[in-house]
Amino acid sequence: MTKDSLFLKTLKGEQSLSTPTWFMRQAGRYLPEYRAIRAEAGSFTDLCYNPGFATEVTLQPIRRYDMDAAILFADILLIPEAMGMDLSFVAGEGPRLKPVVSAENVTELTVERVRNHLSPVFETLSRLSAELDPSKALIGFAGAPWTVATYMLAGQGTKDPSANRQFIYNHPKAFAELIEKLVDATTDYLLAQVEAGAEAIQLFDSWSAGLPQKLFEQACLEPTAEIARRLKKDHPDIPIIAFPKGAGPLYTLYTKVDAFDGLSIDTGLPWAWALENISPYKTVQGGLDPLLVVKGGEEMAEAARMLRDTFKDVPYIFNLGHGFVPHTPPEHVADLMTIIREKE
Ligand code: CP3
Repeated sequence: MTKDSLFLKTLKGEQSLSTPTWFMRQAGRYLPEYRAIRAEAGSFTDLCYNPGFATEVTLQPIRRYDMDAAILFADILLIPEAMGMDLSFVAGEGPRLKPVVSAENVTELTVERVRNHLSPVFETLSRLSAELDPSKALIGFAGAPWTVATYMLAGQGTKDPSANRQFIYNHPKAFAELIEKLVDATTDYLLAQVEAGAEAIQLFDSWSAGLPQKLFEQACLEPTAEIARRLKKDHPDIPIIAFPKGAGPLYTLYTKVDAFDGLSIDTGLPWAWALENISPYKTVQGGLDPLLVVKGGEEMAEAARMLRDTFKDVPYIFNLGHGFVPHTPPEHVADLMTIIREKE
């Protein structure tokens, strides 16, 4: 079934006069209607595992702003939880997991119960697929193995990834086993997402910056490409977007992977460089600094127009260089939508 979705067509390389648009973290704390449901759900994980609430918060930004795609409401850290790690979110601080510190800890992780444990997520996707207007695409997602591993190794988000890098050098075998398990678990999770109605997949590699090239290829590029290839084997038509945040010139390695259809660019990647080095091979998505949407006004408008115009002759999906931050004024998002769609 091919849907008449501007987002899906653009992702598959078709160019059109309009620019499809969605935003990372388009559902979330900057929206008062999200905060209301979040309070009703209790904890953040309760929200992710409640298909009624998760469906509702996925649809909230679409109702308010009419974006061209909805992204499943869930989190990349549901995978480590499904593999047997306890997960909690500490208010104002972020995620907490009991860290993986030894080879034994890696061996204890299981991939078998992923589908079963995450069945509420698939139920959310089925509901969304029934409720979403046919012109809107439904995006499923997962964290890329390296990014998920960084949280598993540190037990939390960390500004300094050097301890994680050290783990690779000190425990190469355990690290390889960890990545292999994450590839298996993530592939299974995403296959089930597609079966439940996801029409495109994004793989978030939020922590791929700063690795030496050899480690980057081993920890970021190859595992992410392997997941994409396995998905395409069963579902050749499912478009896949990779987001190796902070990869700089190593983005070009992703342009050579057939299984990727789109590449999401971060805030720091020069747009002209992306046009020259990525657009000939893949649909580019993203790039706008989310902090400009906090600022709003002429500065945001000018940057948004410049970004849209940079990619006006190639397939391009409007998005940010990273997710909206919680203090984004909701009215600036409305202004941004108006700017992106002007003259269209
Ligand atoms: O709208 C969407 O983008 C869909 C839902 C989504 C969430 N997280 C919801 C969320 C998606 C795609 C993610 C991905 C995610 N989660 C990433 C990759 C993208 C990125 O931001 O780099 C990462 C690294 C995580 C892990 C994570 N989840 C952290 C570090 C935190 C705490 C920090 C924070 O922003 O609060 C979360 C919590 C989280 N995930 C929230 C939301 C809306 C906030 C939780 C709350 O409401 O209290």
